[in-house]
Amino acid sequence: MDNKINRNEFLKNLGFRGASLVALYCTSKGLSSCSSDNTVVPASVDLTVDLSTTTALANTGGYTIVSNVVIANTGNGNYVAASITCPHENKNAIKYQGSSFYCPEHGATFSTNGTCTNGITGKALKIYTVTKSGNTLKIT
Ligand code: FES
Repeated sequence: MDNKINRNEFLKNLGFRGASLVALYCTSKGLSSCSSDNTVVPASVDLTVDLSTTTALANTGGYTIVSNVVIANTGNGNYVAASITCPHENKNAIKYQGSSFYCPEHGATFSTNGTCTNGITGKALKIYTVTKSGNTLKIT
């Protein structure tokens, strides 16, 4: 039996396998490693915010970013916390404005429960649990 292949067959097989390896790598990493920011959104966090020293949260609509979590004052003593990572293309760009989260990269907007409200992406923004005790916010 002859195990030789010609040069064209060899290069064709090599190209196919190379493309297959890239596709397999991206698929196994859930595409996050193939996105521009290479970001993984944690399922939960463990943050504590002291409201007495965080002036950015003093007024309704104010927000701050702590450890890649966007924390906002939604009024009446309520707060909300979301991942800074936009689910559209995994860019670390989420901000808070008015009464919703938005991403300046392509204009996605999200309600405070994480639902995309303008159809840019069907994926939800990760929202974390906020518990207030006195002047302390616990975000998990
Ligand atoms: S990356 Fe946020 S809208 Fe596209």
